[in-house]
Amino acid sequence: MENAVHTPVLLKETLRLLEPPDGSGWMIDATAGEGGHSEAFLERFPGLRVTCVDADASILSVARDRLRKFGARASFYEGWSEDFFKAVLAAKETPDLDGGFKKKFFEKNAGQPPVVILIDLGVSLYHYEKGGRGFSFRKDEPLDMRIDDSRGLSASRLLASLREDEIAALLWRGAEERYSRRIAAAIVKARRAGALETSGALASVVKGAVPASYRNCAFHPATKTFQALRIAVNGELELLGKRLEAAFSVLAKGGRLGVISFHSSEDRIVKWFFREKSRSCVCPPEAPICRCRGRPLLRLTVKKPAVPDAEEVEKNPASRSAKLRVAEKLE
Ligand SMILES: C[S@@+](CC[C@H](N)C(=O)[O-])C[C@H]1O[C@@H](n2cnc3c(N)ncnc32)[C@H](O)[C@@H]1O
Repeated sequence: MENAVHTPVLLKETLRLLEPPDGSGWMIDATAGEGGHSEAFLERFPGLRVTCVDADASILSVARDRLRKFGARASFYEGWSEDFFKAVLAAKETPDLDGGFKKKFFEKNAGQPPVVILIDLGVSLYHYEKGGRGFSFRKDEPLDMRIDDSRGLSASRLLASLREDEIAALLWRGAEERYSRRIAAAIVKARRAGALETSGALASVVKGAVPASYRNCAFHPATKTFQALRIAVNGELELLGKRLEAAFSVLAKGGRLGVISFHSSEDRIVKWFFREKSRSCVCPPEAPICRCRGRPLLRLTVKKPAVPDAEEVEKNPASRSAKLRVAEKLE
């Protein structure tokens, strides 16, 4: 059995804020990775069943091994969580849907919707250490960065296909990289000499493009470039709103949705989604009286997001920017 390398973040807070009603029911771990959060939920709540979803087949096989000890309480879906949510909705709403998916997930859970959904955004330490796909600037690997490497453009092909201003926009959007323009210009220059095929080559182009003060600061100068590129390759920001909407649609009334984000561009989308769904009135601000008679669809379980304490940050520095937002579905 392959050992897990990723430490689940905000674990105590996640277990507390996403405690299932009666400690039982169905949970969807929509970004299961090596199954760290799933394992903790299955251990803490013996009446709970968990479906682990991940778009990366290799990491999901680590979760399968790790959670085998829970028998039929753990089930697995290899694919994008948005596709899984859509299939759960279809299974719920279409009586004569083809048996496979319906039997395996929906009927097995007594046809009841999930009471807990956890979305832990981004990638796992596994991807940096064992992914072999160029996620880390510390390794020299093929510059791919796709979570599901059977679909879409690799990072190297994406960089080869974009204009300089588009690369700069990508770096700004995904990581607010302040040297986005300089780095984009250096990438385009390097590309003339041949495509950027490896993570090592990209890291040295970035290093050469930024001022010395940035090269010598506490984090590696390519940190933000790699983050922004990974986000773009996997469409992480574009798809997040849709994913939250789909998760909300399948969640049981009274169920809880928890989202862990790692940077401000993601957290803004989550915060906005929760805020919109928890508003009671959706009339335009200039309307003199409320005509929509709207009711909130979500209740924020905690007003401010949970963040790691000093002890967690010390033990697991990768957790330092994590934020957990949790809401309960009302309608
Ligand atoms: C931060 S890791 C999860 C770590 C996990 N909670 C643990 O404690 O071991 C995020 C995982 O989500 C997966 N992932 C990212 N976007 C996804 C999506 N849209 N659908 C399914 N899986 C996704 C990645 O492959 C990665 O394994």
